Amino acid sequence: MRKNIVAGNWKMNTTVPEGVKLAEEVNEALKGIEPKCDVVICVPFTHLVSVNNVITEKGKLGLGAENCADHKSGAYTGEVSAPMVASTGAGYVILGHSERRQYYGETAETLREKVALALENGLTPIFCIGEVLAEREADKHFDVVKAQIVDGLFNLSAEDFGKIILAYEPVWAIGTGKTATDDQAQEMHAFIRQTIAEKYGKEVADNTSILYGGSCKPSNARQIFAKPDVDGGLIGGASLKCADFMGIVEAFD
Ligand code: PGA
Repeated sequence: MRKNIVAGNWKMNTTVPEGVKLAEEVNEALKGIEPKCDVVICVPFTHLVSVNNVITEKGKLGLGAENCADHKSGAYTGEVSAPMVASTGAGYVILGHSERRQYYGETAETLREKVALALENGLTPIFCIGEVLAEREADKHFDVVKAQIVDGLFNLSAEDFGKIILAYEPVWAIGTGKTATDDQAQEMHAFIRQTIAEKYGKEVADNTSILYGGSCKPSNARQIFAKPDVDGGLIGGASLKCADFMGIVEAFD
């Protein structure tokens, strides 16, 4: 069966010492509890090795990057490859975050390369999808999200698709304090699962973890996660404070 997952996305926040301290706090907080979900922190490339070194609760706390290159190696100044990420000890990589699509021009084509390289290197992609406000207002949100899934992922075999975690993040809810309602999240998550079922069958769809992201916090996580097709969250701002992040982890009880 699919897993419940709470994943932090630190984005471009914290210096290395600050990030190590935050990771140590999360690691420490997990020592005392048996979380009812997988917990992952996705951190800047510069932090991966140092953060990996302070994670002692490997069974409870996973580590991920926030992106990887669409090439394996070579003359791509400033890029960080999937093999490099995997060699730090990380097990996950966020791909196709709306900030990458919007500010760095990531296309479905580059994302297909990134997904393939992540999988080849044993990394679990956390693949982000979601519409902007104008698309929702024009009632195009289902079409937009479906196209992102079809164009970015439906080249995969069923076996490889089964390794993907999806994160539905309505762009209008990211960092805005404006969360989708639990019913809006459920409606889209059910649609996503149905889209997967049409391509790969019900079993694959039922086993896919679909996370919600966008202004998720301790005060709203429980209600959103209670929806049948919501399997956890991808957490930006609230993952930067250990207490807030753990409050969201504990929404699964
Ligand atoms: P937020 O970000 O929780 O700060 O809205 C979520 C994300 O972008 O992954």
